[in-house]
Amino acid sequence: MANNKVLLVDDEEQILLSFQRRLKKQFNLDIATSGKQGLEKLDSEGPYAVVVSDYRMPEMDGVHFLKTVKQNHPDVVRIMLTGFADIHTATKAVNQGQVFRFLTKPCPPRDMAEALEQSIRYHNFIISEREVIDLKRWRKSLEQMVAALARLVESRDAYTAGHQQRVALLSVAIGRAMGLEEQTIDTVRLAATIHDIGKVYVPLEFLTKPGSLSPLELDVIHTHPQVGYEILKPIEFESPISRIVLEHHERLDGSGYPQGLIGSEILVESKIITVADVVEAMCSHRPYRPSRGVNKALGEIEQKKGVCYDPEIVDICLELFRKNNFNFQI
Ligand SMILES: [Fe+2]
Ligand SMILES: [Fe+2]
Repeated sequence: MANNKVLLVDDEEQILLSFQRRLKKQFNLDIATSGKQGLEKLDSEGPYAVVVSDYRMPEMDGVHFLKTVKQNHPDVVRIMLTGFADIHTATKAVNQGQVFRFLTKPCPPRDMAEALEQSIRYHNFIISEREVIDLKRWRKSLEQMVAALARLVESRDAYTAGHQQRVALLSVAIGRAMGLEEQTIDTVRLAATIHDIGKVYVPLEFLTKPGSLSPLELDVIHTHPQVGYEILKPIEFESPISRIVLEHHERLDGSGYPQGLIGSEILVESKIITVADVVEAMCSHRPYRPSRGVNKALGEIEQKKGVCYDPEIVDICLELFRKNNFNFQI
């Protein structure tokens, strides 16, 4: 809920009480009779949206007080109350950014109410802007953390280094061509960047083994989507990253793993990464086989289109390579 807490500071208590009486229905008004008391209240009873201060006060004057408020509580909107004789000082304070507005004494309650409403609106605007900036910063930290996790899993295995990034690159290109919203594309990018994180629990010799794997070794490798899901589940992503990681080896006809999901049970984000993963894996060189080349990779998804892979995603992927000359360079 919007903060409408206001602190009035004046050494003349009668003025404070009169404002409090006349404006208490509209605002959550607190009073202080000196700058020192005002600063104490800001520290102990805040956050306040607005502070109104008299200019002429003994000990600490209004400019000094509001300057300190600006330093200690920069989000609080500041108003100065001043007599006509002090207008020059008040104008200077506004110009220096110390105060948002000044009001002249005697100030009719209606003028005060109007200034407070405007100041509260401004305060709430500042707070919402701050939240947007915080969210952007938080997202950036999250992306950096995801990139660090991706490097961690890829640092074990030189052959698959860069695999997740290349899958992310193709997945994002598919998402864009599908016309998905930017937020969904961000989700696809993040999930693709760490989709194989569960491989940290797979012994390195299984991942790099030349020749075919035994059923037991395959069983261990097939745990990686579930392991990745367990690693990521406790992190509070705003999108279903852990679920996508869990689903990236599912197939439309239920022949995938670990859950054997079918068609509509699988998220579209997961279906995109599935196609990009298959194509990238077949294009890249592995210890047990050389690269099969782009044409073979595209032939694979084309052949199993509608059976294992989402037909729309396959068509878009084929078009990206055949018409738009997509390549994995990053
Ligand atoms: Fe995988
Ligand atoms: Fe993969």
